[in-house]
Amino acid sequence: MHHFEHKNNELYAEDVSVRELAREHGTPLYVYSAATLRRHFQAYDSAFDKVRHITCFSVKCNSNLSVLHLLGREGAGADIVSGGELAKALEAGIAPEKIVFSGVGKKYWEMTYALRAGILMFNVESDQEMELLSSAAADAGIPARMSLRINPDVDPGTHPYISTGLKKNKFGIAIERAPELYARAGEDPWLEPVGIDCHIGSQLTQISPFLESLERLKELYTRLQKMGLSINYLDLGGGLGITYGEEDPPHPGELGEALSDALADMDVTLVLEPGRVIAGNAGIMVTRTLYTKETELKHFTVVDAAMNDLIRPSYYGAYHRIAEVTPQDREVAPRDVVGPVCETGDFLAQDRELPFIEPGELLATFSAGGYGFAMASQYNSRPRGAEVLVDGDRAHLIRERETVEEMIAPEKRLLKRE
Ligand code: LLP
Repeated sequence: MHHFEHKNNELYAEDVSVRELAREHGTPLYVYSAATLRRHFQAYDSAFDKVRHITCFSVKCNSNLSVLHLLGREGAGADIVSGGELAKALEAGIAPEKIVFSGVGKKYWEMTYALRAGILMFNVESDQEMELLSSAAADAGIPARMSLRINPDVDPGTHPYISTGLKKNKFGIAIERAPELYARAGEDPWLEPVGIDCHIGSQLTQISPFLESLERLKELYTRLQKMGLSINYLDLGGGLGITYGEEDPPHPGELGEALSDALADMDVTLVLEPGRVIAGNAGIMVTRTLYTKETELKHFTVVDAAMNDLIRPSYYGAYHRIAEVTPQDREVAPRDVVGPVCETGDFLAQDRELPFIEPGELLATFSAGGYGFAMASQYNSRPRGAEVLVDGDRAHLIRERETVEEMIAPEKRLLKRE
């Protein structure tokens, strides 16, 4: 459910005309709906009301400060994977005691920064990371609350690039090894093993893999209790899927119900790290058509957004719905919607049934609120687009379009012209 709808033959973001936004801010343009973000956050968060819980929005999904601020005001914490994300979460006003730090490659300075900030816990992913965390904590004189990220070896049934809880993946620690590491952490004066963590993958469209991993974590929890460790937090990660096209993922309410029931006999605070389910369908990317081009085999619609602006179609073969901003009654035929980047893999859609779009017309790419701008790059020396947050009938620019000047400045300063 989102607030991007055609009214009187024109696409609106809540009560604001997308055509007007594109005219004012240019394209490519990311447009987010505040009402959708709030609604998705509340739907997810309240699904777990039966149990003590913290919903930590996964910052990697959409790290715009204004989006984080909005979610923070709704009560969200943050799941971060870098010092940069920590800075953004804090800047956005998210309370440190609601921040968890995930990721396989944390650096010393990032650990120190997070310790000083007083985050809730580190989700540790290897023996060596645990050793470094202990040193960082000793150096800072601040004990580190931590969990181990367990790799439960559960198949999430999703795209291989976003499966993380299988034995062959780089993430987490094998569940069989966990007790030994917890014991070591328990004896370390600078480590406080307070949680168990796992995240098995993203864009999951079934509940069973979540339940399966929870069952495995529960066995570990019982074992750790017997070892005399008091585990207060159970972090089940994020991963709930959304509808891009035909997918039919469970409603957060169903997930909440199933997990809360399964958790009933555990005395823990549940930590959740949803990203996509909150932000994915809360944003669109608007692009303007530059040219059309017929070849013997294909019809191409060349637009001004490319794989550097939305990489999901190129990288995962992902489907994103594309619609005209001002629809007209025209015949449809298979089209490739492609960008200006010099790669054959640069497309937003292939063989998509679309009308003949005239140069100058606007298209909206849906489900671009998560892993859209967040994954954007400057490939082909293309400055990244602007972001706008619509709230009712008001639109706020929340990120300025990068300029070519800004883009080249860090190199220009260092250029020696001889
Ligand atoms: N927690 C951890 C430790 C994660 O690694 C992730 C996502 C999340 C939470 C949030 O997962 P979500 O609820 O958004 O599924 N770029 C890919 C998605 C990569 C997800 C990486 N980790 C895409 O565009 O599909």
